[in-house]
Amino acid sequence: MSLRDSWNIAAQSRELRDQPLARTLFDTPLVIFRDASGVAQALLDRCAHRNMALSEGKVNAGCVECPYHGWRYDGAGHCQHVPSLGDNAKPPRVSVRSFPVVEQQGFIWVWMGDDPTTAASSRPYEFAHLDDRGWTTFVMNTRFEASVEACLENFLDCPHTVYVHKGWFRSPDTRVLRAHVTRDATSACAQFEGEPISTSVVSKLLFPKGKEVVHTDRFILPNVSRVDYAFTPERHFIITSQCTPISEHESQVYTVMTYAFGKIGWLVRLFFEPLSRIIIGQDVDVLKRMTRQLRRFGGAQFSHVETDLLGLHIQGMRRKMERGEPQDADAPGRTIEIRF
Ligand code: FES
Ligand SMILES: [Fe+2]
Repeated sequence: MSLRDSWNIAAQSRELRDQPLARTLFDTPLVIFRDASGVAQALLDRCAHRNMALSEGKVNAGCVECPYHGWRYDGAGHCQHVPSLGDNAKPPRVSVRSFPVVEQQGFIWVWMGDDPTTAASSRPYEFAHLDDRGWTTFVMNTRFEASVEACLENFLDCPHTVYVHKGWFRSPDTRVLRAHVTRDATSACAQFEGEPISTSVVSKLLFPKGKEVVHTDRFILPNVSRVDYAFTPERHFIITSQCTPISEHESQVYTVMTYAFGKIGWLVRLFFEPLSRIIIGQDVDVLKRMTRQLRRFGGAQFSHVETDLLGLHIQGMRRKMERGEPQDADAPGRTIEIRF
């Protein structure tokens, strides 16, 4: 078991039409295409003949066709046709590696683990309320120059918000907040008590006045962060980010914004989406600058304080998974005081 033994989003369904797509996950180049039945398939992006990138070819007869000599591969990666041998010839017994794929909730998920048979034992993450009545969803697909771990930590890190998103998302406040942190084998969670409504742009536009908010930040092993701001059943925001590793310092992040906003959810999107893009752009920028530092100094040398809340859990649980070690028993909950 390693971090590769997990489902990662390779593309949004709407991106995959009749042309193959090139993607890189865990430093491994893939070609994604739809077979004759429209089922998404993922193969190693290397033709078995002369190693050309299959993603530069096209889809033909339900196969991906190499642009160099026209060899065709089916969804299982088996060579089905070699034009130079003629139409009636048996194709050579060569294949390229294929990867398990699941298409779910508008995303194409790929399993990159060494043993593809283990994929069947788990399902991709399911985004909450995605198709529910009364909820509106939009997706942001963002490239980060940062590791998956750095992205997850950032999305679940509160203290940075008053610096990086000052005035936009959260404004400094002298009041003391309490966060209750819990962890089990597959997730870690911080729940905030009595969080005051800030004077930021987001609060003014989206949050109802005088209502108590239940704010929860959650890490779901290995690659998902979920943030909830729940006011009433009719006013609830969920920001879920699935982080796909491209390489050590590059990630593709699929942020699913799902929210209930009475009857005018669709209208709210008109300003909520551009606002969210501004905020995510601020995170792209700060993480790019942090990654530059890691490169400059040849690695990370982090220190942690308890108000980093979930940072150590994200790091610790992912390290254990990477090493194939069992996760710790459920940790007793802790209450931590935090100031923004
Ligand atoms: S390199 Fe792909 S067909 Fe020759
Ligand atoms: Fe942020």
